[in-house]
Amino acid sequence: MEKIAVVTGSSSGIGFETSLALSREGYFTYATMRNLEKADVIKKIAKDEGLPLKVIELDVDDENSTEEAIKLIIEEKQRIDVLVNNAGWGIWGTAEDVSLEEFREQFETNFFSVVRMIQKVSPIMRKQGSGNIVNISSVAGRIGFPVSTAYISSKFALEGLSECLRFELGQFGINVIIIEPGVIKTNFFDSMKTAKKADESDVYRDITLKVISGVKMMAEMGTPPKEVANVIINSIKEEKPLPRYVVGNDAAMFLEAKKMKTDIEFENYLKKELYGE
Ligand SMILES: NC(=O)c1ccc[n+]([C@@H]2O[C@H](COP(=O)([O-])OP(=O)(O)OC[C@H]3O[C@@H](n4cnc5c(N)ncnc54)[C@H](OP(=O)(O)O)[C@@H]3O)[C@@H](O)[C@H]2O)c1
Repeated sequence: MEKIAVVTGSSSGIGFETSLALSREGYFTYATMRNLEKADVIKKIAKDEGLPLKVIELDVDDENSTEEAIKLIIEEKQRIDVLVNNAGWGIWGTAEDVSLEEFREQFETNFFSVVRMIQKVSPIMRKQGSGNIVNISSVAGRIGFPVSTAYISSKFALEGLSECLRFELGQFGINVIIIEPGVIKTNFFDSMKTAKKADESDVYRDITLKVISGVKMMAEMGTPPKEVANVIINSIKEEKPLPRYVVGNDAAMFLEAKKMKTDIEFENYLKKELYGE
């Protein structure tokens, strides 16, 4: 039987590579994106390689767009075997500098859109009695540090959601898999917004500049997004996938340090690693 995959945020980076990797594995893949003007490259690769890949529009923040996309997929293929909730973005700023409105926008894409997708797709997978839901979290979904506070909070929320879903959906044969990349070389850092107030902030200017330059330095040595795609492919091939998969040496190093150190030791270690304090 033909297997069907759906990936959000396929215009670039991890979503782009994951859509291609899934279609190369034989999944008929709906590479979804909010802006179809960005579809030319993936369409060309799919055409040249003869891949089973179709680009359709899906803005995960938009209820109608999400509803229409899922409706189309079900009309065409009647099933969804893999859903990769990948669309996401970040914002620089401390908790005081990110306005409540900016916090809400961040959560809309990184958290509530995942709830929306899951509420639409899990009834389909339940009826099938099978499916894989892959949520792209981050090492920042398990480690808090300053100046990406809204982003990190949204990824912690995604981790909580995913852990709960493993129990709720696992009984129906649906696997929920959390992917935790470290720093990945994509458009992510160039696309990051900065909280409006952060530009004017005197109180947090020092720490903001230090963290941004520390993370940008790490980003230069980031892991290629293809590696994330490979981990996703390998995870869904498992009969019983693990709850979480870490991608990148940096992520593995931070998470190992978190495991080995006390909370206070780990905070001190992070300060040193991130901004040399
Ligand atoms: N890069 C990293 O270091 C890193 C590390 C850990 C986790 N992650 C996570 O990995 C995921 C993918 O990021 P990336 O690194 O591949 O960055 P990216 O190259 O910037 O890709 C982000 C994708 O999300 C899409 N997107 C954003 N808002 C959307 C919306 N409302 N509806 C539909 N699509 C939307 C973007 O579309 P447009 O092109 O239209 O903007 C783009 O396709 C994100 O969830 C991110 O948090 C990234």
